[in-house]
Amino acid sequence: MDYRGPYRIRVDEKPMPRIEHPRDAIVRVTRSCICGSDLHLYHGMVPDTRVGSTFGHEFTGIVEEVGSGVENLNVGDHVIVPFNIACGQCHFCKQGLFGNCHEANPHATAVGGIYGYSHTAGGYNGGQAEYVRVPYADVGPTLIPDWMDVDDAVLLTDVVPTGYQAAEMGGIQKGDTVVVFGAGPVGIMAARCAWLFGAGRVIVIDRFEYRLEFVRDYGPAEVYNYEALDDVVTFIKHATDGLGVDVAIDAVGGDAKGNFLQTLLGNKLKLQAGNAIALHWAINSVKKGGIVSIVGVYGPTGNVVPIGNVVNKGITIRANQAAVPRLLPKMIEHVKEGRINPKALITHRVPLEHIADAYHIFAAKLDGCIKPVLVPSNA
Ligand SMILES: NC(=O)c1ccc[n+]([C@@H]2O[C@H](COP(=O)([O-])OP(=O)(O)OC[C@H]3O[C@@H](n4cnc5c(N)ncnc54)[C@H](O)[C@@H]3O)[C@@H](O)[C@H]2O)c1
Ligand SMILES: [Zn+2]
Ligand SMILES: [Zn+2]
Repeated sequence: MDYRGPYRIRVDEKPMPRIEHPRDAIVRVTRSCICGSDLHLYHGMVPDTRVGSTFGHEFTGIVEEVGSGVENLNVGDHVIVPFNIACGQCHFCKQGLFGNCHEANPHATAVGGIYGYSHTAGGYNGGQAEYVRVPYADVGPTLIPDWMDVDDAVLLTDVVPTGYQAAEMGGIQKGDTVVVFGAGPVGIMAARCAWLFGAGRVIVIDRFEYRLEFVRDYGPAEVYNYEALDDVVTFIKHATDGLGVDVAIDAVGGDAKGNFLQTLLGNKLKLQAGNAIALHWAINSVKKGGIVSIVGVYGPTGNVVPIGNVVNKGITIRANQAAVPRLLPKMIEHVKEGRINPKALITHRVPLEHIADAYHIFAAKLDGCIKPVLVPSNA
């Protein structure tokens, strides 16, 4: 794929990626997904998203070539490639903070390297393509087990571990009430995983009925459409014990809807890093002393958030890009044991050549779309 500017994606012939470093591999893509994170790029919300770049950070593929420093992979291996590009050796990787690798993106002080995610995330080309260069191939890529369907495997590159980490960062205690804002793939997975940590009640908020219906069964979860409520925060408080939820998860990020002023400042005028209304709702609907877990993505500049409420309520905020290499072995186990069924989220299977249509359908939430998967013709 080729990014031509906001809302403009096309297919183009590009040079074959090459091994540039001994720790590189070249992978022939078998599946790639479009993520809610790609929509921030598509909408022109991420600084330094360069025309001509290839997006795509969720892909599986077959190893075509390995650099001389890669000993754990063989040509022909079918691998899950985590969305994080991480060296495995720096100060941050050593702590398991693979989303904050300092080597893969040395010019940034916040995010690490991410495939196909603008020059703010390292300027790497991504996997919505036939072939990809995979740096630090001795760290991230993980063999797809024989018994695993590739459609399950591709969702382990991001959505499953991200939803899981959202629940994990929530510090859920047995019996806790958890609210998840956003019923996209990430929010759906966060709702599912909240139970694995012992949640006693899981509530999901969105505005798309078809997504709410899906997560009602899949989570399972109690679901509410915020557009049908006068005030979502008051509603959540009334629906709990009057004090609010124990844990609130923001699985929406900067492309949120639901508040005119936030949309104007964050999305239209770009005076803040996207629209932070879901984060407001999370902060305001959590109990005093509660935890807000943020996996929704916001840009590098500031956001208007109710920090006074965070301080006065004694809220703990935990947030990050998911550390996929840390979580992958556990996620594979959960799939094997049947506790998580990732491919149930896939609603659309689109040939890579029709990627522009897939972006449009996913961005506009048309045709019951939850998760589109792209299949290259040579897969
Ligand atoms: N931290 C990470 O590692 C990581 C990884 C993957 C995705 N993400 C982020 O997670 C977020 C969700 O990703 P996705 O793939 O599920 O996206 P998605 O676009 O499919 O889903 C987002 C959902 O949020 C809903 N929404 C919008 N405004 C809302 C509001 N005010 N309250 C409640 N729901 C609202 C939308 O209707 C939509 O269903 C994005 O910001 C994405 O960038 C983060
Ligand atoms: Zn993603
Ligand atoms: Zn590192």
